Amino acid sequence: MTVEIKICMGSACFAKGNMENLEYIKEYIAENNMEAEVSIVGALCENKCEAGPRILINEKEYTNVTKETIKDALDSYKKIINFNQ
Ligand code: FES
Repeated sequence: MTVEIKICMGSACFAKGNMENLEYIKEYIAENNMEAEVSIVGALCENKCEAGPRILINEKEYTNVTKETIKDALDSYKKIINFNQ
């Protein structure tokens, strides 16, 4: 399975936390050896800034994203990846 993380790089989302969230995602992927399965792409502002910071994981939208949100989501994907290996 592949996981695509789209992280809004618009100025509102970035200032509200996606700068830190991006660093956290990179660390999580490296620590869990998920580089082969997970890709990170930047996304433009979609004018949903009030719900930011926004991240999409395999097109599922997460809003008001914190490190905890990311950890919960990536923990779930990690289980599926490990199960399928
Ligand atoms: S900056 Fe992310 S939706 Fe506008």
